Amino acid sequence: MISKTVLILAIYFAHSVFGESVTLSQGVVKGFQAKSRSSKDYHGFKGIPYGKFEKRFDISKPAGNWSGVFDATLDYEGCLDIGLLGAPSGVEDCLKLDVYTPNHSASAKMPVLVWIYGGPLGFLNAGVASARGNQGLKDQVLGLKWIQENIENFGGNKDRVTIFGESAGAISVALHVASPMAKGLFHSAIAQSGTAVQTFISVYWGRGVDQAVKLAQANNCPTSNKEYMVECLQHLDPKILGKSSLKMDDFGFLADSGFTTPSIETYSDGADDPNVYLAENPLDVFKAGRNFETCPWSNWEPISGENFYESKYFEIGDSLDVKKLPAEWKELDEFWDSLKLKEMGGKWTS
Ligand SMILES: *[C@@H]1O[C@H](CO)[C@@H](O)[C@H](O)[C@H]1NC(C)=O
Ligand SMILES: *[C@@H]1O[C@H](CO)[C@@H](O)[C@H](O)[C@H]1NC(C)=O
Repeated sequence: MISKTVLILAIYFAHSVFGESVTLSQGVVKGFQAKSRSSKDYHGFKGIPYGKFEKRFDISKPAGNWSGVFDATLDYEGCLDIGLLGAPSGVEDCLKLDVYTPNHSASAKMPVLVWIYGGPLGFLNAGVASARGNQGLKDQVLGLKWIQENIENFGGNKDRVTIFGESAGAISVALHVASPMAKGLFHSAIAQSGTAVQTFISVYWGRGVDQAVKLAQANNCPTSNKEYMVECLQHLDPKILGKSSLKMDDFGFLADSGFTTPSIETYSDGADDPNVYLAENPLDVFKAGRNFETCPWSNWEPISGENFYESKYFEIGDSLDVKKLPAEWKELDEFWDSLKLKEMGGKWTS
C-alpha cells in the first residue's frame, strides 16, 4: 500500500536519561537518545513497522513480530510520493511509525500526540475486494490500533490520544472523526488547514470507481472486468502510476487531487464488515451528528483552522481556474457558514 505513516510525540518533556531498548509484543526495539532544541533529553524510535500488505491496494494487516532486536536508530525511506514540485520518491512498503518520548516508563502515562502528515496515493476504489478504497486511511487506523496496543511501553497514555495533521493530514483527521472504523482509537482531534468536506475531495465521493477506470485507461489497462483492471494496475511501476494520477484532476487545481482521494466504499462483505472505513458521505455523518459517536465533541474541544494566504501556493502560474469549480463549492461554503462550530463546543482558529 502506498500510504501515510504516523508519528507520535509525547508532549510533556522531562529531564532524564534512560535505557535505550523497549520490549513490545512484536519484539525488542532499540532507539536512540537525543536533545530537543531546548536541550531536553528524549528518546527516539524510527521506522517501527506497524503494518504490511501482500498486494498493492490490499487492506493492510499488523506487521507481525521480528526476531532479535529491531534497530530503530536509522533513517528510512518514506512513502512513495509523486512530489509536488520534484520527481517521485519513496517506497510502497512504508507502513512504519516513529515514536518520540521523554520517559518510556510504563507508569509515566503521558498524553500522546499523533501527527498525520499530508501525502498522496493509497485510495484506489474499483468497487471490488482487491481494491475497496480508502486504503491509506485504513493504514492510519491500523497505526492508531498499534498505538492502543503499544504506546504504554513508551510512557504514553492510550486513553489520552490526540490526532492532528495538516493539509491532507487534516483531511485524514476530519475523516477519522466521521469513520466508524476509527471509533475509540483517539480522544481529541486537531485539523490544521483541511476538512472532510472540502470541494476537491468531496466531488469525488461517489466517483471512486470512475476514477479507477480513468486511471486504468491512462495506463492501457483493461477496464470491463474490475478484478483484471486492479491486477493490471498492481503490476505497474508505482512511480509511473503516481505520475499518471496527475491526469485525473478535473480542476487543474491540486496536482494530486484526482485519483488520490478518499471515496465512499461500495464493496463490503456484509452489514457489519469491519473493513469498511466510510460507506456514506461524511457531510451526512456530520449533519446527523453521528460523529459524536466516534468522538464525543461535548467532552473535548475540536480545533479546526486555516492559514493566512492558504492556497496561494497553488495559484502560482494561474493554474487555478475558479470557473471550473462546481456548484457544490458554494453549497459547502454556505453549509460551513451555517454550521456554527462554536455550538458544537469547537474553537475556530486562523
Ligand atoms: C509474537 O510474539 C508474541 C510474544 O511477544 C506472541 O504472543 C505472539 O504469538 C507472536 N506472534 C506471532 C505472529 O508470531
Ligand atoms: C518517568 O515516569 C515515572 C512515572 O511517572 C517517574 O516515576 C519517573 O521519575 C520518570 N522518570 C524520569 C526520568 O522522569
